[in-house]
Amino acid sequence: MMRVLITGGAGFIGSELVRQLVERGDDIVVADNLVNGKRENLDGLDSRRCRLLVTDVRDAAAMADAMAGVGVVFHLACLGVRHSIHSPRENHDVNGTATLDLLACARAAGVRRFVYVSSSEVYGTARRVPMDERHTTFPTTVYGASKLAGECYTRAYYTTYGYPTVVVRPFNAFGPRCHHEGDSGEVIPKFLLRALAGKPVIIFGDGTQTRDFTFVSDTAAGILAAGFSDAAVGDTINLGSGRSVSIASLAQTIGRVTGRAIEITHDEPRPGDVHDLCADATKAASLLKFAPAVSLEEGIHRLQAWYLGSGTPIETLLADDRVRNWVA
Ligand SMILES: NC(=O)c1ccc[n+]([C@@H]2O[C@H](COP(=O)([O-])OP(=O)(O)OC[C@H]3O[C@@H](n4cnc5c(N)ncnc54)[C@H](O)[C@@H]3O)[C@@H](O)[C@H]2O)c1
Repeated sequence: MMRVLITGGAGFIGSELVRQLVERGDDIVVADNLVNGKRENLDGLDSRRCRLLVTDVRDAAAMADAMAGVGVVFHLACLGVRHSIHSPRENHDVNGTATLDLLACARAAGVRRFVYVSSSEVYGTARRVPMDERHTTFPTTVYGASKLAGECYTRAYYTTYGYPTVVVRPFNAFGPRCHHEGDSGEVIPKFLLRALAGKPVIIFGDGTQTRDFTFVSDTAAGILAAGFSDAAVGDTINLGSGRSVSIASLAQTIGRVTGRAIEITHDEPRPGDVHDLCADATKAASLLKFAPAVSLEEGIHRLQAWYLGSGTPIETLLADDRVRNWVA
């Protein structure tokens, strides 16, 4: 058992990671300012084993306090890709600068491992697929650039100071507690809710873009392993399923899962949208025993069941759906 700090732990992936760490018997501190995370995401967890600090990761004094006695930091707090289009400077402050400050803070506090949760968006669009970790990094958005800055600072702490860090690069994740709302809204929950409400799904561009979708429990298991596998220290590791799925075919899969005829509307492409992403996760399989277990279709079934079991009417959820959600 160990004390673990998870920044962004009230968010979508972070709250799944918290659950998996609680299962292991760890003592969890979550630092989250709840800008996009929710208290409810931690519902059902024993408050003696999981403590939520509502704080901003840019608050140096609060983060120094939060790190006291911590063995591993999992750093997930971030602002997202669409946020970066309307607010690039703040996006960089949280994703890039705060990561540099947290590394200094963790090292000073004697934290034994720092796991930085980066993103496949650091690659920009695929030059070749599947993409292993040596693929060029050529981000197309400030989000991708700021996540890459965070990665570079994290690796530099390892190469310069010998500080034990790990960088993981999840590809698109989906599952319970994912975001459909505001500028956090992602394609699978947006498509699924619209399909369940009998509304057309909206594809930005022609739908030939491809993504590698991984169910959140698989993504979180890979992140968790990065906190405890000694072989991972100093390394940069993809977390993806290796399945390439076009957005047009995703709409058809949603149709099959919901049993609804899917009507598609096309809109203008999102600025900076990358065309293709697909992981080569060979390194994760070897260093982290990463083995995604949930198929895309099964994962969408589970997400549908989660929405339908939530007690919130689909129309109520959809009220927070913004179509061009990168516009301020
Ligand atoms: N969801 C995906 O498909 C995906 C894919 C690749 C990488 N990632 C990475 O995984 C991590 C988690 O992403 P997510 O999808 O769970 O997003 P999320 O928005 O649900 O989680 C991020 C959390 O950070 C918190 N946060 C934001 N700014 C903060 C600040 N200044 N101080 C404290 N907390 C702050 C938010 O409230 C939120 O709870 C991120 O680092 C993201 O880059 C996510």
